[in-house]
Amino acid sequence: MGKKVLRTKLCEMLGIEYPVLSAGMGPTLIGESTGATVDLVVAVSEAGGMGVLGGAGFTVDELQKSIREIKAQTDKPFGVDLLLPKHLDLGGGLGMKDVDELPLSKVLERLPQKHLDWMNQVKEEMELPDVNLKVRMNTTTMRPKESIQVCIEEKVPLFCAGLGNPGFMVEDAHAVGMKVLGITGNQKNAKRMAESGIDLLVAQGHEGGGHTGRIGTMVLVPAAIDAAYPVPVLAAGGIGDGRGLAAALAMGCVGVWVGTRFLATKEGGALDINKQKIVESNDEGTRVSRAYTGKTLRASYNRFHDLWDASKLRPLPFPTQVLLSSALLASFIEANKTGYVGGLAGQVSVLIDEIKPAGQVLKEMVEETVDILANKLPENVVAK
Ligand SMILES: Cc1cc2nc3c(=O)[nH]c(=O)nc-3n(C[C@H](O)[C@H](O)[C@H](O)COP(=O)(O)O)c2cc1C
Repeated sequence: MGKKVLRTKLCEMLGIEYPVLSAGMGPTLIGESTGATVDLVVAVSEAGGMGVLGGAGFTVDELQKSIREIKAQTDKPFGVDLLLPKHLDLGGGLGMKDVDELPLSKVLERLPQKHLDWMNQVKEEMELPDVNLKVRMNTTTMRPKESIQVCIEEKVPLFCAGLGNPGFMVEDAHAVGMKVLGITGNQKNAKRMAESGIDLLVAQGHEGGGHTGRIGTMVLVPAAIDAAYPVPVLAAGGIGDGRGLAAALAMGCVGVWVGTRFLATKEGGALDINKQKIVESNDEGTRVSRAYTGKTLRASYNRFHDLWDASKLRPLPFPTQVLLSSALLASFIEANKTGYVGGLAGQVSVLIDEIKPAGQVLKEMVEETVDILANKLPENVVAK
């Protein structure tokens, strides 16, 4: 079969062959590798899509090093995704912006007593070991201003803001030829972000892995297209094959932003146990919980969700809750309590039954889309 052609306006905008971006995916917990690794970015960009680095768990130096590694391995365009906290000056809200690294035990001391008591009680009852994690206070989320500066100095082709409105940096980004992408989970934010001057908008529905809103992709996408016009929209949340991509294009999207399907690839950065959970998952295999980051977040269902629900505690604000969840999850992993572990993943897990190279995932997705759009709609459709 010859090489397929599938082009939209997004391809001209970003200088790519196919309208498919692999989503920026950070780590699930402190100390874990990022989901969207340098290898994944290179594989997707080399295959004709655009790979987006998950920069959320990196230190500012690691971010710069990773960007340079990508540039050394491909001359194709790529993106970087960061999670921007609400207050860019606060050192992630913990007020410790001058410290590079602290033992987890020291950081936990600053959390509310009720949360600490609960964590200690769980550890005691389950006989979980202490895990001596180091908490890096110099990550991109803790130091957003410096991280954005690195992206601008490195002239990253596409800057993606996983949280927050990146409108404030559009002027600086455009001055060096970069494009800026925002992500929304509802129509109100779609309008707000489009008006702030961003170049591209991702509308991510409730089905999606990681942080997610309440509106399903099928409703959110056309609503966001209407609200964001003329800013072009990419669909996200539940897209794992050519059927999803064809549907997104039919709804008026210029492309798609695909997370879980690219996470469960050879190059995806998730722990093997989390990739396995995706492959084994049925359509009920993921749940939304505030246990991980304090915000609503979809992950492979596991008993940590139930433990948190039973605690009746109020989630701490992002990113503080991450400290609490990381401490427990690291202990579960150390104690081999795999029933209490599950990484971030979307409902689309049900459609994924094999870990393949990312380039192959992209190629198959494009081929299936072309086949649907050019040759056949389902046989029961009559359209004249
Ligand atoms: C493991 C994982 C980590 C994620 N981390 C981030 C992140 O750091 N920043 C971000 O913008 N989105 C993050 N997301 C959300 C994705 O960017 C994307 O919007 C989502 O995966 C799309 O839905 P899908 O999983 O159904 O493809 C993450 C998703 C997953 C599965």
